[in-house]
Amino acid sequence: GPVKIEKPEELPDVFKRVIDYLPAAIVPLRGENHLLGIIIVDNKFNKDPITEIDIRTLELYAALASNVIERTILFQKLQKKQDELEKAYRELQEYHKRVLKLEKFAAVGEIASTFTHELRTPITIMGGYAELLYRSKDLPPVLLPKVETILRTAKRMETIIKNLSDYIKSPEPEIKKLKAKEFLDYLSSLLDIETKRKNIELKLYVEDDIEFHGDPSLLEHAFLNILRNSIEALKDGGVVQVECRLDNGNVLFMFKDNGPGIPPEMLKNLYIPFHTTKRQGLGLGLAITKKIILLHNGRIEIESQQGKGTTVKVYLPQRGGDKNG
Ligand SMILES: Nc1ncnc2c1ncn2[C@@H]1O[C@H](COP(=O)(O)OP(=O)(O)OP(=O)(O)O)[C@@H](O)[C@H]1O
Ligand SMILES: [Mg+2]
Repeated sequence: GPVKIEKPEELPDVFKRVIDYLPAAIVPLRGENHLLGIIIVDNKFNKDPITEIDIRTLELYAALASNVIERTILFQKLQKKQDELEKAYRELQEYHKRVLKLEKFAAVGEIASTFTHELRTPITIMGGYAELLYRSKDLPPVLLPKVETILRTAKRMETIIKNLSDYIKSPEPEIKKLKAKEFLDYLSSLLDIETKRKNIELKLYVEDDIEFHGDPSLLEHAFLNILRNSIEALKDGGVVQVECRLDNGNVLFMFKDNGPGIPPEMLKNLYIPFHTTKRQGLGLGLAITKKIILLHNGRIEIESQQGKGTTVKVYLPQRGGDKNG
């Protein structure tokens, strides 16, 4: 209970520093099972004595204050617990979302990889037969456009499947020494049918004797994606220029078309998978191309001007990778 102190001798040592006027009263603030604090009062200013009524009032006040303090502490503890609970709940929700996403992605990946695997062979066979027919002298001329369409479609499907399977599983490059001239001639021959059909001129300017290192089938895939974009963007009679030269220890490949240019809203999302402006496109072409170029420690830059055309620059280190010399 409250203690009234009238004489200095009665003052416990601990209070000597805080109590400088007597008489004073000390009232404890009791919690449920521990001391919350104390109230010290005196009448230093009006010099009145401390009466029994003063003490009773104080006691009542202390009881009320203790109650309020204890409840506040409890409330704060509860609030803290609630915050922790809310945080845990949010984390759980976030985690749950991530798991769902992963599951969905894994499922999509699995389905896609089954598809690409199952489709690859029949499409290659189809394309092979169409190619045979296309080049055969016995083919009745009326059938030529039809066979051409089959061939073109098969090639388009092959590219889509390659893009998809490269997107699903990262390819392991097999680095070989390549001759730029040979490689680009070969690429241009692969596009023969598409360029002829649209009356597009594909011009090659390759510096003599340039050699570089890379995975031929991955780079074929990457460069075809770039060239197909140009061909798809160009109107009849358009021009694609391919230039290859040395540039600061890099081999620079420049692909330039005089097409409509890349729409500005597309420019920001060029390398993001599934962004496309085409009805028949997955929007994987440049995403995969960039991945392949990066696998070769190279870099890609795209410049485009509305109504003027698009230039894609690919830099590959001349000594790409340390394998095979
Ligand atoms: N040479 C270009 N001229 C004009 N637009 C281009 C050119 N290259 C790319 N684009 C634009 O960039 C977009 C993305 O190209 P990307 O190759 O990644 O996907 P896609 O061609 O739409 O589909 P996919 O290559 O998967 O068949 C295209 O939809 C097109 O709008
Ligand atoms: Mg494309």
